[in-house]
Amino acid sequence: MMKEINHSELNENMFNAIGRNWMLLTAGDKDKLNTMTISWGCTGILWNKPVALVFVRPQRYTKEFIDNGDYFTMSGYSDEMRSAVKFCGRNSGKDVDKIKETGLIPVFDEKAPYFKQAKIVLVCRKLYAQQLSEDCIIDKSLLDYYKDNDYHTMYVAEIVKVLIDE
Ligand SMILES: Cc1cc2nc3c(=O)[nH]c(=O)nc-3n(C[C@H](O)[C@H](O)[C@H](O)COP(=O)(O)O)c2cc1C
Repeated sequence: MMKEINHSELNENMFNAIGRNWMLLTAGDKDKLNTMTISWGCTGILWNKPVALVFVRPQRYTKEFIDNGDYFTMSGYSDEMRSAVKFCGRNSGKDVDKIKETGLIPVFDEKAPYFKQAKIVLVCRKLYAQQLSEDCIIDKSLLDYYKDNDYHTMYVAEIVKVLIDE
C-alpha cells in the first residue's frame, strides 16, 4: 500500500536514491506512457516550493511525453527490480515495449503514471524547462558530456505528492 507523506517527512537520502539506486522518470497518460532510467537529478527548495530537477537529453523518447504534459513522476525501486530499471535505461520506447518486457505495472495517480512495484514516488508538476547550453558551461571539462551536442533539457518541477510503500 502506498502512503502519502509530506516531502519534509521523507527520510530517503536522495543522493543515493537517484545517483546510486537510480529512478524511473515516467510521463504520459492512460493511453500512452513512457519511462526511462535516470541517475542524475536532485531535490530541494526553489521559489519556496519543494522541487525536483531532472536532466533529459533531446533524443530520449520520454522527453516527448514530458513535454506534452504538465506532470511526470520519479519513482524508486528495490533491488529485485534492478534489472527492470536497467532495461529501461538501455532500451528506448521507440524500439521496445518496456512495460511488456519488464513486467512493470502502470499505476495512474490523478496526474501522472508510475509503477505498482515502486517503493517511493515523487509526483512532479513542471515549473520550468531550459536546455543547457555551451556558453553557460563554466567548467569546460563538462563539454566531454556533450560531444554529440545533445545538451540536456533541465526540468524544474514542483513535487506535488510524495508516496512511499509501507
Ligand atoms: C543508470 C542510467 C542513468 C541514466 N540517466 C539518464 C539521465 O539522467 N538523463 C538522460 O537523459 N538519460 C539517462 N539515461 C539514459 C536513458 O535512460 C536511456 O537512453 C533510455 O533508453 C531512454 O529511453 P527512451 O528513449 O524510451 O526515453 C540513463 C541510463 C542509465 C542506464
